[in-house]
Amino acid sequence: MRDAKDWYDWHGPYADPDSPLSRRLRLVQEHVDGWLDERPEPVLRVVSACAGQGRDLLGVLARRPDAARVRATLIEYDPRNVEAARAEADCLGSTVTVRCADAGLVESYADAVPADLVLFAGVFGNIGDDEVRGTVAALPRLCAPAATVIWTRTRRAPDLTPSIRTWFAAAGFTETAFHAPADVLFSVGVHRLTAAPHPLGPRGRLFRFT
Ligand SMILES: C[S@@+](CC[C@H](N)C(=O)[O-])C[C@H]1O[C@@H](n2cnc3c(N)ncnc32)[C@H](O)[C@@H]1O
Repeated sequence: MRDAKDWYDWHGPYADPDSPLSRRLRLVQEHVDGWLDERPEPVLRVVSACAGQGRDLLGVLARRPDAARVRATLIEYDPRNVEAARAEADCLGSTVTVRCADAGLVESYADAVPADLVLFAGVFGNIGDDEVRGTVAALPRLCAPAATVIWTRTRRAPDLTPSIRTWFAAAGFTETAFHAPADVLFSVGVHRLTAAPHPLGPRGRLFRFT
């Protein structure tokens, strides 16, 4: 049996600015920044699934004078990561709530959605392929009209990203960016919902982390 991953220690490579994880983080943050620049609304809602220590969003809010526009809910299961994210959010004085909950359950998103930005970083590489497909199909349930979804996924063989991009299109999203640097295995995708969003709907399971 494989040892369970320590999801607190998993954040260690962020200490090295040249690590693939830090490079992935910078790409995600660039898209969060760009999304904030594009959206003029006084209030914007963000939800992050399996948010870890929330670095993708909190790192951007820390340097933005308009951070107060953002109302965010980070959903994370590991209490140590929840504590780290809460400490950072408090330090920023931001309107970010960190919910210690299972992001695989629809009910964990109650009152946190519909969101204008949905972050799924570090999720699709840790759930089954069928669950990735089902979760992508369910994403319009988390989205406000014209919401942006930022997601990541390893391209380790067999590379699922071509299928994932097709599933996003089938779910009513238009791709606005896809990064697949040649010297690393990670990829970052950005999709905008161009179809109508769906209501959150009934309780149930979207995915189970492996
Ligand atoms: C690969 S890490 C990604 C963290 C963060 N999104 C990032 O990119 O830095 C996956 C995170 O999901 C969390 N996690 C695992 N199972 C979860 C679940 N069922 N619900 C919410 N979070 C979960 C882990 O504790 C870990 O922090």
